[in-house]
Amino acid sequence: MRVLVTGGAGYLGSHTLLELMALNYEVCVLDNYSNATPEVLSRVRSLSNGTVTDYTGDVRDDAMLDRVMAEFRPDAVIHFAGLKAVGESAEKPLYYYDVNVGGTLAVVRAMERAGCNRIIFSSSATVYGEPTYLPYDEAHPTTPKSVYGQSKLMAERILTDWTVANGAASAVILRYFNPVGAHISGQIGEDPSDIPNNLMPYIAQVAVGKRDVLTIFGDDYDTPDGTGLRDYIHVVDLARAHVAALGYAVRHTGARPFNIGTGQSYSVRDIVAAFGRACGAEIPVRQAPRRVGDIAAMQADAGRAMRELNWKATHTLDDMTVSTWKWQSGNPDGYTR
Ligand SMILES: NC(=O)c1ccc[n+]([C@@H]2O[C@H](COP(=O)([O-])OP(=O)(O)OC[C@H]3O[C@@H](n4cnc5c(N)ncnc54)[C@H](O)[C@@H]3O)[C@@H](O)[C@H]2O)c1
Repeated sequence: MRVLVTGGAGYLGSHTLLELMALNYEVCVLDNYSNATPEVLSRVRSLSNGTVTDYTGDVRDDAMLDRVMAEFRPDAVIHFAGLKAVGESAEKPLYYYDVNVGGTLAVVRAMERAGCNRIIFSSSATVYGEPTYLPYDEAHPTTPKSVYGQSKLMAERILTDWTVANGAASAVILRYFNPVGAHISGQIGEDPSDIPNNLMPYIAQVAVGKRDVLTIFGDDYDTPDGTGLRDYIHVVDLARAHVAALGYAVRHTGARPFNIGTGQSYSVRDIVAAFGRACGAEIPVRQAPRRVGDIAAMQADAGRAMRELNWKATHTLDDMTVSTWKWQSGNPDGYTR
């Protein structure tokens, strides 16, 4: 099977390439390197000892998409390319809608022109917004609180409507919870170009001495230790969910959302303690008030993915922190762009 991976040089895309190649899928990447470096694909090639066809280009570029479709002739597309910073999305809403909504629209239109009917889409648990109950299942109301979340929900809508009109089309919508961790080799991992927005890469940068201290926002939430609870998912488990989703897309038409999480949640203090065990040193922290917009807890009901995709997360919290530390300590400056 031939799979076009947009954004394949990014954090989640690169790990997914390795899982696909291990199972002999033929892969091709389209990436504009706005948040990645070609070094990623060199490492993927050497780790897999395989071939990755790659195109440098933008998913909003119709001519480029037509060229990739004509030359590679994918059986399916995994659409990772997109923007992901909640804070930035409030400052640059038009940019976020352009890339995340316009980009998805351009990809699906190119697929339709080329007769490619299967897409796996990177959505996010942020589409749910404030929980009315937990764990979130896929029927939970979707009222995203950020431009980023809105852009993902709009893209989901586009894909859903496309499958209604095109009876041969299949759209598997994966709503990721909090992806963390790195490949077991320590050769690829998350490489934020700026101050990390997420907890795990921030802790990793504190542990490696790039930042002085981790600020914990809020210790008065209604949670066991007062800090926020999140459902963290190891990036390799998440990558394998894409392989499972491809199998599902071959067997089903229509659009279907799936939560990709573990169904278990950990507090900020749990993560800090686990990271300390992984790196063998205490992580310096300081306490600050809650941040506006943060919620106390979120957790996936991952039952649908288990039942219908036949997929389940298998990595533990320690697997997440140990692999992150292996990547960060071996690559203190990331891929050095
Ligand atoms: N990492 C997370 O925490 C998380 C959570 C939920 C959803 N997602 C979604 O998953 C997808 C992948 O996330 P990631 O963490 O790998 O991010 P990433 O930034 O590491 O990867 C995205 C890749 O897409 C490329 N890209 C961006 N805009 C592009 C464009 N217009 N044309 C072509 N390529 C483009 C970037 O260069 C990068 O290689 C994104 O759509 C993101 O919104 C991520």
